Amino acid sequence: METKRKLSLADLPEWKQQGRKIRMITAYDYPTAVLVDQSPIDMVLVGDSLGMVVLGYESTVPVTMEEMIHHTRAVVRGAKNTFVVADLPFMSYQVSVAQAVENAGRLVKEGGADAVKLEGGADMADTVRAIVRAGIPVMGHLGLTPQTATMLGGLKVQARDAAAARGLVADAKALEEAGVFSMVLEAIPSQLADVVTREVSIPTIGIGAGPHCDGQVLVLHDALGLFQRFVPRFVKRYAELGKEVASALEQYCREVADGTFPAAEHSFSMKQDELEKLLKG
Ligand code: KIV
Repeated sequence: METKRKLSLADLPEWKQQGRKIRMITAYDYPTAVLVDQSPIDMVLVGDSLGMVVLGYESTVPVTMEEMIHHTRAVVRGAKNTFVVADLPFMSYQVSVAQAVENAGRLVKEGGADAVKLEGGADMADTVRAIVRAGIPVMGHLGLTPQTATMLGGLKVQARDAAAARGLVADAKALEEAGVFSMVLEAIPSQLADVVTREVSIPTIGIGAGPHCDGQVLVLHDALGLFQRFVPRFVKRYAELGKEVASALEQYCREVADGTFPAAEHSFSMKQDELEKLLKG
């Protein structure tokens, strides 16, 4: 198999100009990171969505820096040729600019991430500027920002009216000016994502933001049918692995119960004379 060339941030302006789409997906552990690395995926996101789809929390709010570092390290070990972005979790960057720089540094130094992502617009510009000044690439995240979903009225489509849409465009420009290399646009109207994508010179990566973004990202467990609790409308299921796992486990239980597993090919034997010695005592 040909070794994949790891994306460089220096590629992005040309990709944007050429209309070459960025393919991004989340991963949270070593085996899925290896699978992602073997695919043409350009960027892997260790999203704080891991709180919901891997750790079983109700939201992304409880996710800690320790959990993010733990999962980022596992992904980095598996995704050797894929650009890894790690999420700064809730309250790891809002308290002060110094706290944000320190925690971004931990995701890169201890986790091994190539870049970090944080949620928020113009209000986060100084924080972005300071992290970038420290030498760490930052991805922005606008629209539906799950860490502050309670303030937004729940997990719902954002910026549907002209005033809110204008605010989002201003936020996108503020993030670009602060130095983000790219930004996620989550759950906003396609037309607005189109406007933002044309107004900024950096790539936009959409999730529930329509087809006009410079790239797309999905949560791996949603795309593969491994997260059952709810399926957002913008998710396309590319596989139904949850159903496959359920049927495999049923078959395993049946075969253990009726004795068809383990068969001879799954078992070890000892020589006849050793057996006889054993049985003679
Ligand atoms: O945490 C996450 O998985 C994300 C994506 C939804 C973009 O932020």
